[in-house]
Parts: sequence; structure tokens; C-alpha cells
Amino acid sequence: MDFADFDNRHYPTVSVRQGYRKWVSTYDDSVYDEMDLDLLAKIKKIYWTKMAKAVDLACGTGRTGAWLKRQGIRELDGIDITPEMMDNAKEKKIYRQLVHGDIRNTKFADNTYDLAVCSLANEHIPSLDPLYKEADRIVVKNGYFVIVGYHPFFLLNGIPTHFNDEEGKSISIHSYIHLMSDHVQAAFKNSWQLQEMYERIVDQEWLKKKPQWEIYCNKPISFIFVWQKK
Ligand SMILES: C[S@@+](CC[C@H](N)C(=O)[O-])C[C@H]1O[C@@H](n2cnc3c(N)ncnc32)[C@H](O)[C@@H]1O
Repeated sequence: MDFADFDNRHYPTVSVRQGYRKWVSTYDDSVYDEMDLDLLAKIKKIYWTKMAKAVDLACGTGRTGAWLKRQGIRELDGIDITPEMMDNAKEKKIYRQLVHGDIRNTKFADNTYDLAVCSLANEHIPSLDPLYKEADRIVVKNGYFVIVGYHPFFLLNGIPTHFNDEEGKSISIHSYIHLMSDHVQAAFKNSWQLQEMYERIVDQEWLKKKPQWEIYCNKPISFIFVWQKK
């Protein structure tokens, strides 16, 4: 579903490339680690140091990649569609190779990675099938696909992925809504079996950083699926 049908904020909406090109200068400081890194830290089934080769799908500025490297991943590749985000990722010097391209059609070789991670990007693609299929193609048998996302609860309630520009004006980035069952259907069409799933709610820890979010207390803000290729 296109987010536009649910939009309650009516901020000006820009494409992914335009949006992230503008957001890049403040991106790392404005995205809370509670959104995705806390969820990644909950994973029990993946032994990070055993993941010799991993790929960061929609790596952006390398926030997620930096966390993965800290867990002991040896060889990490990254791909993103916004060159300006990738420039920041390059500066972090954590990727073996960084490729400019689309996560639905990566050009990475078949059966290459022990692990593929896609954090906070799936709401920007209209259908999940091509992403789950591409991850299936590039991950080895028994390898993992971890997908972290902005929770559809917030999108269904009309709150888009957005940022503030230099003048403090809120800008939305074009998004789509995928229900949890859409993820399950896309995964099952391919070779993925569910291993773990968690949701993050807006809790007291979150509210300490963002007290103005009291109205969203206990609402789910993000989710994580851990899939294994069978
Ligand atoms: C919210 S950022 C997430 C970046 C990083 N994974 C993180 O968690 O900080 C979303 C990123 O997805 C990228 N993106 C969106 N759609 C994409 C696509 N179809 N192919 C590749 N990158 C995409 C954007 O360019 C942007 O860098």
C-alpha cells in the first residue's frame, strides 16, 4: 500500500534519492540506535564471529555496518542507491566493497554471503518480494537474512519516514506500507524460515530521549525478522 493514502502529516514528499541526499548531513545524529541496533543486539541464533562474509543492504552512512563490524564480522560489503549516503559510509572504512545500486538487483554473485542485513529501508520499496528473492539468491544455504524496519503501526497511523531540513522544515521520503504478513508471505515464497522476531515499543528509555513522544508510549516503533535459508 502506498503511504500517501494514510498520510496525516502532509509534509512535502520527495523521492528516496532526493530525501537521503538532503538528510545525509544530520542522519547519524537523528536516527536513534534504539530503533534498530537494540533489536539487532537481541538476536540469539546468529554467532556474529562465524559470519565470515556479510552484506549490508541499503547501508546508508554505515551506521548498521559499523555495529556489525563491532560484533566481529570479518568481510562486509555494502550497497545503497544514494551516493551521498555512501560517501559517509566510505569514510567509516568498514566495508570491503561499496556498490552503488538497488537492493532488489544487486549484481553480487549467487550464494556469496553468510549473512545479509537490511535495516530501515524496506518501507521505500513498493513490494517486498524482489528483496526477499534477491537476499535468497546471494546468501548461502543455512545463511541468514535479517530485516529491520520502521513499524507499519506508525505508517498506518499517518506518520511517515521524515527528517528536518536545514530550515527545520519536515520532509517526508516516499514510503510504502508492508504488513507483517507481507514479510512472511515474501519470505515463504523463497527459501526463508523464521528463526526470531522482535518488536520495539516506545518505552521509558526512549521517552527519556524524546519526551514529546509520550503520546506514543507503548506503541511499536520498529521490528526485526531473522530468517534462515533452508
Ligand atoms: C533510513 S536509511 C538506512 C541506512 C542504514 N541501513 C541505517 O540503518 O542507518 C535508508 C537507506 O536506504 C537506501 N535505499 C532505499 N531504497 C533503496 C533501494 N531500492 N536500493 C538501495 N538502497 C535503497 C537509501 O538510499 C538510504 O540510504
